[in-house]
Amino acid sequence: MRHFIIDCDTAEDDVLSLYLLLKNNIDVVAVTIVEGNISYEQEVKNALWALEQVNREIPVYPGANKPLLKNYITVEKVHGKGGIGDVTVEPKRLKAQEKHAALAIIDLANEYAGELEFLAISPLTNLALAYLLDNSIVKKIKKVWVMGGAVFGIGNITPVAEFNIWVDPDAAKIVFNAGFDITMIPWDVIINYPVTDEEWNVIKNMKTRMSELYVSMYLHYRQYSSTVQKINGHPHPDAITTAIAIDGSIATRREKRFVVIDNTDNITRGMTLVDRFDADTSWSDKPNAEIVYEINKKSFMEKIYDLLNWF
Ligand code: BDR
Ligand code: CA
Repeated sequence: MRHFIIDCDTAEDDVLSLYLLLKNNIDVVAVTIVEGNISYEQEVKNALWALEQVNREIPVYPGANKPLLKNYITVEKVHGKGGIGDVTVEPKRLKAQEKHAALAIIDLANEYAGELEFLAISPLTNLALAYLLDNSIVKKIKKVWVMGGAVFGIGNITPVAEFNIWVDPDAAKIVFNAGFDITMIPWDVIINYPVTDEEWNVIKNMKTRMSELYVSMYLHYRQYSSTVQKINGHPHPDAITTAIAIDGSIATRREKRFVVIDNTDNITRGMTLVDRFDADTSWSDKPNAEIVYEINKKSFMEKIYDLLNWF
């Protein structure tokens, strides 16, 4: 069995990613929460609420509620006021853990040394903090999956920067320089695989409890993506990353590359500069991440349909 920590800034796609892991029999040993999409308190509540919906009692560890150094903005305009559409949910039974997420990451890296996988569908502050506290986690965490960055320079929070990296570029730089085994799934690859009108209609007609939850969670995001971001439908940044983590065959082209994070305060803050041609240039170095360039959309959607038929 595979053991995962899922690190969330809990909006709709983070919730769906958690459900994908559970539906695919991954042992989720912790949900850690980091600053990002919406108010921090609501991110924690969303994670607890999401677990209640599927009757699972996985520990939820609050952690960093702001980036290491920089200011950031939350993006309720993208995900709806409560992050999972325009509703604001309250967990009824579950409570968050007292232990800080960074400490939980270190403890779990020791408990599952050599087996633990870290799914970062969020800014990298919690993982950077854990690494700064205990460098040895690099050798103990088997794999780090990162939804973040842009390989062709097309961002979403600025013209060139993707949100997760932009929020805490200092943490991202620490993580990318640490020596983790990283696979990065960039925003400007993901937007090539949106959920089309036809697929959206299939989902709306499924009429399962899960599909109804999906539609309510994504309605706001879909409207925002298609009108403001001019995407032909809504993308699945976190869920595609998670699906690839579950089933590597969904990523049909990957390359190991050198990535530099721009953590300056300039207009290019959060940009991920990727040596796309592995050229022998003055700025480049040996690869520090594997980049996913193409995915099998059909296999990905099969995972989504399978999840929506869960109950
Ligand atoms: C990423 O930022 C957040 O808005 C989403 O949850 C996703 O992780 C996309 O840039
Ligand atoms: Ca996210």
